[in-house]
Amino acid sequence: MVSFIAITALLASLVNAAPHSKDRTSVGLNALAQGRGKQWFGSAADIPGTAETTDTAYLKILHHEFGELTPANALKFMYTEPEQNVFNFTEGDEFMRLAERYQSKVRCHNLVWASQVSDFVTSNTWTAEELKAVMKNHIFKTVQHFGKRCYSWDVVNEALNSDGTFSSSVWYDTIGEEYFYLAFQYAQQALAQIGAQNVKLYYNDYGIENPGTKVDAVLGLVKNLRKRGIRIDGVGLESHFIVGETPSLTDQVATKRAYINADLDVVVTELDIRFAAEPYYSADAQNQQAADYYTSVESCLQVGRRCLGVVVWDFDDAYSWVPSAFAGQGGATLFNDTLEAKPAYYAVSEALQGKKCTVC
Ligand code: G3I
Repeated sequence: MVSFIAITALLASLVNAAPHSKDRTSVGLNALAQGRGKQWFGSAADIPGTAETTDTAYLKILHHEFGELTPANALKFMYTEPEQNVFNFTEGDEFMRLAERYQSKVRCHNLVWASQVSDFVTSNTWTAEELKAVMKNHIFKTVQHFGKRCYSWDVVNEALNSDGTFSSSVWYDTIGEEYFYLAFQYAQQALAQIGAQNVKLYYNDYGIENPGTKVDAVLGLVKNLRKRGIRIDGVGLESHFIVGETPSLTDQVATKRAYINADLDVVVTELDIRFAAEPYYSADAQNQQAADYYTSVESCLQVGRRCLGVVVWDFDDAYSWVPSAFAGQGGATLFNDTLEAKPAYYAVSEALQGKKCTVC
């Protein structure tokens, strides 16, 4: 009897542990999301130049499951303008060709950020006027090159500290708060010049998925932009969470509603939910992660159409950015490192089908 119970428990834990025994949805997560009025279910991809680019098993899932692609690196400043006024859109164009082949929308990421800026920007000493000219040139040339191929641009990325003050960056330290408004103004002007005013303008950040000071600060910046007659269309909630510490459904819904009430679109732009420590793949760990993914996707469904969709920050543990940034942490995505769907995947699929979570 004891051994029967032990064997039953062992089998149950194997069934729950990744890989999961279920089949993946035949239509893919994107089609499920669109069936619920969302514009997409998307993924970031670090293409070209990485192993992802030629990993056919990875690409097959990318194509089947996801209807939006965000370039994890290809459009960032250091790659698009490596030297002053010397632009290189080769990688960005390659990414766009992949997205076109897959008929995916692209959230273009990003124009102005403290990180991954070219050395010529950070190693020079600029006056505010000089750096404004550098920023304007970068925004105009980049935005106009990609034009209508971008669904949206993350115009400014991660500008704030957790207390809502501006964080240090070459932009803020040299130009002051005005850099934030100017970036949006330049992006708006650049798009208008080429008749691409339908491309949406976003502020993108982490730590703004929960009500609090940082959210209030973002809403304040949105007001300031609009007072100046400058357009902002939406806010990107990165949603890099930790298993077991993911903001509650109530908090995620309340925060999304706060942005929507301020007449903004909302996108979950970089969802991943990492383990702060091993074990990543035990049944309990997987079920908690599944519950956290379910909550995060459900929050977008509950607030209606102005939460346009969810984007995961890559979809398999082998290509996730987490282990390289946080030693000892990982297991953050929907598929394990041999591309098998985890309970988290099935939880997302169930949320998108309006079903209760059976894997949480
Ligand atoms: O380009 C070099 C390449 O020449 C070299 O061979 C290779 C060796 O490791 O490194 C390459 O650069 C790496 C780059 O990604 C491109 O793959 C950098 O070392 C690495 O630090 C960089 O990490 C990126 C990170 O942003 C930088 O902060 C991640 O891939 C990218 O996923 C991550 O994305 C950010 C979002 O933009 C903003 N929100 C947070 C998110 C996660 O950090």
